[in-house]
Amino acid sequence: MRLSDQDKALLDGVKGDVDRQAMEALVQLGEAFDAEDMVDIGYAHVHAGMAMYLGDVELMEELAERGARMAVPASTNIANADMENWQATRAPESLVRLQKRAETAHNTMGTGGCFTCTPYWAGHWPTWNTHMASIESGVTVFCNSVLGARSNRDGFFAVYAGMTGRYPRFGLHLDENRKPTHRVVVEAAPSGTADFTVLGYAIGSQTTNAIPLITGLERRPNLDELDALGVGMATSGGVAMFILPGVTPPYGDGDAGLGAGLPSLPIQERDLRAVYEDFCSGEHSRFDIVHLGCPHASFEEMKHYAQLLDGKMVKPGVELWITTNRTVRQMARDSGLLRPIEASGAKVISDTCPISCHFARTASPDPALGVEPPTLRAIVVDSAKQARYIRDMIHCPTLLTTTEKAVETAVSGTFVPRW
Ligand code: F3S
Repeated sequence: MRLSDQDKALLDGVKGDVDRQAMEALVQLGEAFDAEDMVDIGYAHVHAGMAMYLGDVELMEELAERGARMAVPASTNIANADMENWQATRAPESLVRLQKRAETAHNTMGTGGCFTCTPYWAGHWPTWNTHMASIESGVTVFCNSVLGARSNRDGFFAVYAGMTGRYPRFGLHLDENRKPTHRVVVEAAPSGTADFTVLGYAIGSQTTNAIPLITGLERRPNLDELDALGVGMATSGGVAMFILPGVTPPYGDGDAGLGAGLPSLPIQERDLRAVYEDFCSGEHSRFDIVHLGCPHASFEEMKHYAQLLDGKMVKPGVELWITTNRTVRQMARDSGLLRPIEASGAKVISDTCPISCHFARTASPDPALGVEPPTLRAIVVDSAKQARYIRDMIHCPTLLTTTEKAVETAVSGTFVPRW
């Protein structure tokens, strides 16, 4: 691999042992993927340090103590507990204390501690052609497909990239890998974020690790729908980038013809129905939580929830969770949106989500934390991603519907299906 003088200096330990370790890891990554050289990155979305695992928090603390600092703007991914409003999820206090230790380490390292899967709604908005690194698959697909930035799905390497400001040039950092591999013809009329997660999920189920060129949509999706579309594909198919002509830089409206000759994949309403039905395994009157905000809600979505809940009350015995990031929660608080939401009995939760909090049965938390996942009858959701991971990680039934019908469900106490 061709290394710059700056890369070599880091490997020689000029900036200390911890940066040397980071650069060595990035060189190993690059060599594994035959990267020719490294690029400067402009942004990194990095691992939070998950409180469920003591060793994971200690790792972040050790990096901070050894002098690790972010060389580029950086944000933190989702964590295991809401560090402000943790009582709302009945998280053990021991878990919250540990999560706050990870937060302190990030503060030392200079990471913007937003603890979210949607850092763009908190102001991290990498522009066209910005090379970046990301631990979160939804961030990767949104930044590639909507913002035109360049990111792979990175795991812990995003921390090393953030520390050094460098990343090996392979995968979606190369022009030749940012071309469509399949043409998707949407023959349905999705509307709203739930439908778009489902559309994405249906596409990803049939185009694993592909770059789908999306055609046939009746209208340009809004930003929340684009976000939802990407996370759906990333969840079922590991998709890291889609191309929507007129949206994805640099593809213009006229580029739909690029798909000529590619394998064609029609997506019809029955495909969307099949995803909804697959994730409706619970009984319609037996659920404990209704969840909105996967991915973490934007300010526009908070406005929508406030309108839907204005003057309504969540049915006693049902919990309505809305997850968003800290920045959006503060914006919603400042602009008065939290009043109708919280007056309805809904809980606004940041830093985590149902599958990332102490509910996961696939996690092996440190015994000293006293984490006991609750037994849940079912969770109502408006996101195919949340549904898939609830099934896989919490091991409880799901009921998937639209946002509006999820709110009706929370108010009436009886599940209102999409169709
Ligand atoms: Fe975010 Fe949790 Fe959904 S991490 S994308 S709210 S599953």
